[in-house]
Amino acid sequence: LIGNPLGHSLSPLIHRRIMEISGIDGSYEMHDIPATELPHLIPRLMNELDGFNCTIPHKTALLHYMGSLDESARLCGAVNTVFRNRGYNTDTEGFKSAGIDLRVKNVLLLGAGGSAHMMAAVCLEAGAESIEINARSPESAAKLSAHLSATFPKAATRVTTSSGAPATTSADVILNATPLGMWPKVYGLPCDPDILTPGAVVFDPVYNPTPSRLVLNARKRGVRAIGGLRMLLRQGIEAQRIWNPGLAFDIAAIEAEVLPEMLRELYKSFPIKILLTGFMGSGKSTVGKLLANKLGIAFADIDVEIERLARRHIPEIFAERGEQGFRKLETAVAESALRRGGSAVLAAGGGFPCREENRNLVRETNTLVLHLDAPFEILWSRISHDTSRPLARERGQTEELYNTRASLYSDFCDYVFDASLPPTELAETIARLTTDME
Ligand code: S3P
Repeated sequence: LIGNPLGHSLSPLIHRRIMEISGIDGSYEMHDIPATELPHLIPRLMNELDGFNCTIPHKTALLHYMGSLDESARLCGAVNTVFRNRGYNTDTEGFKSAGIDLRVKNVLLLGAGGSAHMMAAVCLEAGAESIEINARSPESAAKLSAHLSATFPKAATRVTTSSGAPATTSADVILNATPLGMWPKVYGLPCDPDILTPGAVVFDPVYNPTPSRLVLNARKRGVRAIGGLRMLLRQGIEAQRIWNPGLAFDIAAIEAEVLPEMLRELYKSFPIKILLTGFMGSGKSTVGKLLANKLGIAFADIDVEIERLARRHIPEIFAERGEQGFRKLETAVAESALRRGGSAVLAAGGGFPCREENRNLVRETNTLVLHLDAPFEILWSRISHDTSRPLARERGQTEELYNTRASLYSDFCDYVFDASLPPTELAETIARLTTDME
């Protein structure tokens, strides 16, 4: 894999595993190559290697070094795979693997760079009704549009351009072709999520983090959304298919094995904290443990750590230091858990999101906040006989607290889950969402 800068990439893992699973004897390495070295290195690489991949910023430059171009590379104006002097673009297959029906559909394309070019080409090829290219700069949108009419002279697709955030859209398909939302700026969004309405399909190639905030925002609104992890794997499988003509690849088997490994690699290299919030009795600790187990990452229970630190049970802390004393401890313990290295699921006490200081801490650490929500009746039946909660002694007062906190929880979280489900089922549901396995 050549690129510059390469940074951390999942490609070595992906290719090593595809080769192992498919019985290919080979190795896949990364070479950081600046643009100035392409002229003398590309001919050498084409001679010495069986094949190679190329990533930003060389995908377009590579076009000029190829003996011939596959249709995929010609239509995208970019090469990401090279085999025997021929340039291919397997990102197209990756994108197609999302399985979005593009025929006679109206598409809103966010972005006008290389990724937008690739997606637009696939849309035109598939016979989309229209594409609106929305970009920050009107010039780049116009440039892509002109390029598309030159490469697809016969396409029936209507291509329009716009700049500035769209205030509304009637598009059937919304494609993110910007880097917005990628680690470490995970809160970046390519559009106002309120323009997403049920019936539309959203595709976001961002896989770090998985799920992206765009995907979560779409799903929260009942909009089908597909993340980029599978696309990343599929473009890799397609490259291996090109390098190993005639060999059969069991895509389903590769996906089943490699997608979870890709996630684990992400958890290792880009630590993520998943914070479970919700009222007392919503099952944060029980579900948190199960979830952490499923994801193969650590689990920390803030209340347990508070008790360990204070060497006292929570009712005693409340009795000795008052609620304020408890809250101070809670913030300190949560801060150290949130800033600790490594990925983890954290269960916070029900009162945690009430302090602004805590909410800021969560945002600063890019933490994913999942709210476990259930009707008061259900929660009360779970906690009313338990004496370990100083704020759940009397039904009326506890219900009032529940009502006061309701909007706070929902405003603060990235996603809401039904906490009336049995813990194993709930953990399974959350794991499916957080790992993007539809
Ligand atoms: C509290 C919830 C408790 C615990 C403390 C205060 C709250 O945790 O932190 O008793 O303010 O809601 P659970 O939500 O895990 O019961």
